[in-house]
Amino acid sequence: MPDRVSPVAVEPAFWRGRRVLLTGHTGFKGAWLALWLQVLGAEVTGLSDGVPTSPSLFALARVEEGLARHVLADIRDPEALNQAMTDARAEVVLHLAAQPMVRRSFAEPRLTYETNVMGTVNVLDAVRVAGAGSVRAVVNVTSDKCYDNRETGRPFVEEDCMGGHDPYSSSKGCAELVADAYRRSFFCDPDGPRVASARAGNVIGGGDWGADRLVPDIVRAASAGTPIAVRNPEAVRPWQHVLNPLSGYLLVAQELFAGSPVDRGWNFGPAQADVQPVGWIADRLTQLWPDALDWRLDPGPHPHEAHVLSLDSTQAQERLGWRPRWDLARALESIVAWHLAERAGEDLRAVTLGQIEEFGRS
Ligand SMILES: NC(=O)c1ccc[n+]([C@@H]2O[C@H](COP(=O)([O-])OP(=O)(O)OC[C@H]3O[C@@H](n4cnc5c(N)ncnc54)[C@H](O)[C@@H]3O)[C@@H](O)[C@H]2O)c1
Repeated sequence: MPDRVSPVAVEPAFWRGRRVLLTGHTGFKGAWLALWLQVLGAEVTGLSDGVPTSPSLFALARVEEGLARHVLADIRDPEALNQAMTDARAEVVLHLAAQPMVRRSFAEPRLTYETNVMGTVNVLDAVRVAGAGSVRAVVNVTSDKCYDNRETGRPFVEEDCMGGHDPYSSSKGCAELVADAYRRSFFCDPDGPRVASARAGNVIGGGDWGADRLVPDIVRAASAGTPIAVRNPEAVRPWQHVLNPLSGYLLVAQELFAGSPVDRGWNFGPAQADVQPVGWIADRLTQLWPDALDWRLDPGPHPHEAHVLSLDSTQAQERLGWRPRWDLARALESIVAWHLAERAGEDLRAVTLGQIEEFGRS
């Protein structure tokens, strides 16, 4: 792949009127992305099996208001996906729907594989069967956990082996292999659909209420006035604001559409300085929170988690000109601001759109 000289920017002119099928639009990342696409003027069909949390960013920011279609369907149902693909006449597919929780994957491994592996097969197959005439770009969102983590401490590069100790991580490694096979078998015509995969992790931002995630746990404890129970404070993770990787997904989709040779895996991780232990994040967030907050060790037992995980995003920086526009300090400030706005009863659609606009200017 030739090196790119000038950075790619998220291009409003590209997205205006663009027909996008976004799976997982009711989730934390999907709701942020649906709102950003609305700002850009895209015609968004969102497909999810429901709203995964209550409260949710999807409801509080009234994401449904700006959608062309809000489809309630299960990605394990191939017919429903074919129908949604046909109805949406999608040009771009952004696949985010998943069972995204490591702990839940220990309790429900079969559901995790069915959703994350066969769900990805069903999305790609709907592109092959029902979307071949319209779809040009597919971004398959997996995770930084898709890599076989031997705990060497070295940041992963895109060529590293897929793997995964737990069912969630392994399912995301499998989803990568599925996308690779579809790429080579069905999506190699430069005028047809083309597929890339995006790997990012430990994504944080306002409006996440996911179970067993550090920032939502802190927000929940803060509003309940209870101490925060922190698992694995020594575990080191690549934290970043949700808008950083989402900007990468948009750039890759644009470039796929333009026919650039970007149909491959992409890491979107933070600067090395923002790869920090869980306990460090808990310290910073409790300092930033205006009320007294305290965290303590949750002694467990806990399922296996990797000690160190980080990504090398040189490829995205050099070939797309992508960079994590908001560093960790900015990300944490924006989370506190978002949740204080929630507490003050502000209009959270306006607050979230305001943060997207600020991000665009940075
Ligand atoms: N949040 C993170 O830190 C993080 C890190 C790495 C990767 N990811 C990946 O990013 C994507 C989005 O994650 P998130 O944090 O927004 O998760 P989330 O739980 O907030 O949202 C998941 C979305 O998928 C939908 N969904 C789940 N099962 C479905 C099914 N069977 N059929 C249709 N829809 C279904 C849910 O309704 C929801 O819209 C996932 O693929 C996840 O694995 C997230």
